Amino acid sequence: MKNIKKVTSIILSVLLVVSLTVVPAFAQSTTSEITRTTVTVNGDASTTRGFTWYTKTETKNRIQIAATDGSELDVKISSSECEEFEGSYMHKMVATNLLPGKTYTYRVGDGTNWSEEGTFTTDNGDDKVNFIAIADVQAGSLDRFKMGANTLMAAYEIMPDADFYTNLGDFTDDSDNKEWDLYAQAFDDINRNNTLVPVAGNHDGFGVWHWFDNMFALDKSESVQNLNGVNYSYDYGNAHFTVLNTNDMGAISQAQLEWAENDLNSTDKDWKIVFMHKSPYSLGKDAKWPDALSLQDKLATVFDNCNVDVVFSGHDHMYLRTKTIYGNEYNEDGTTYILAGTAGKKRYEFRQFLADAYMPTDLIEVAVSQEDGYYFNGRDFSSCSTKNIGGCFSCISIDGDTLTLNAYILSDDMYKGGEKSVKNIDTMTITKELGENEATYEGENTTSVWDYIKDLGASISNLVSYTLVTWLPTFIKIIPAMIYSYIAYHVF
Ligand SMILES: [Fe+2]
Repeated sequence: MKNIKKVTSIILSVLLVVSLTVVPAFAQSTTSEITRTTVTVNGDASTTRGFTWYTKTETKNRIQIAATDGSELDVKISSSECEEFEGSYMHKMVATNLLPGKTYTYRVGDGTNWSEEGTFTTDNGDDKVNFIAIADVQAGSLDRFKMGANTLMAAYEIMPDADFYTNLGDFTDDSDNKEWDLYAQAFDDINRNNTLVPVAGNHDGFGVWHWFDNMFALDKSESVQNLNGVNYSYDYGNAHFTVLNTNDMGAISQAQLEWAENDLNSTDKDWKIVFMHKSPYSLGKDAKWPDALSLQDKLATVFDNCNVDVVFSGHDHMYLRTKTIYGNEYNEDGTTYILAGTAGKKRYEFRQFLADAYMPTDLIEVAVSQEDGYYFNGRDFSSCSTKNIGGCFSCISIDGDTLTLNAYILSDDMYKGGEKSVKNIDTMTITKELGENEATYEGENTTSVWDYIKDLGASISNLVSYTLVTWLPTFIKIIPAMIYSYIAYHVF
């Protein structure tokens, strides 16, 4: 990382436009110099948003915000940063004191040169929330990024009123400036006009400290550590969302395990949803390694103890939904794990040698390989449909006591001269008793550097003991089947 120049300013240094007109119209002076504009969830979803953008030269931080219904605003800026990072300038601002349930227009810039306008809407405080989940675009070229963006646009056509969308990690492949610029180019319109909930993937700058952190304005006030990702949480509707960083000590550190348990126990919201990149339950290429699989051990126990309803993950580039799991066994009161598929082009075949090894087949409700179209029909994996080959997305609605998920595939046919077509590959509905969750943890949930270092011994011990005691004996047993799979299908 290059030298950092940081400018932290306060409210007075920021130009805020309070619009009294019904439809605010900012004077047109847009510049292509402003790139990578995103609006992210940042703390209170009804009053606060984070904004990030990049410029090639050092410029002032300015933002203009107006409510589309003409509401008078008293927006505050709680933080404002400009840093040189990897040859460009990262700009972040956090706007607070927004009004709940309002749609806003905004633009960012230096006070003279501005981005194109964007929009976002704050949580209105009712017990409903709609959101979209995608994962693993992991592209390196513009056409591949556009495939991912097309998948997300298809999701918004089905759910135009989505409150936010989550990208479950691996935004890019090699995480360099070129790829992030291509990502931003393909997703620019969506990212300027929707609230994003980003999740750190292992391709999002792993090994280059702060890449992920420097791409998005997130609430890091309680984040365990942010060298290779950020963990955070927020409420939306009657749901609590916990976002984990699975780049932390192989997958998750002892410190973050404790943070997750405290966070999940600090809410009395009716629904508890987790977003993280690596998936503990999968049949994909990376489901044979102990990092992600170790999440079945200590982290799944946290989810069991904290009544987590649904866990969304990526990393393994296929769609898979488990039955409800508690203690690594089926239990009707357990947690549902969703492997959200890839919105992009890089897709994995089923590793059948993993079924009943690390991934008990009787825990799989639905599995779809976007690479070759094979799907699990409840008995075997030999069923196949070419309509399963394409980009995957999920639309989720929570309305009071009911959560509904629909997963879809945008067929690749549209890239081969065919019609644009979307296929529904999964539908799930969960209903639950409301008012059963109690907040049993109070106070701050922060981890000092010393606490993190102090817990490193336990973090390493957890991973090593899982690897040697649980993972390795099973891995040795599946080696012959893995070799056969490689010889017969070139899949291992
Ligand atoms: Fe990944």
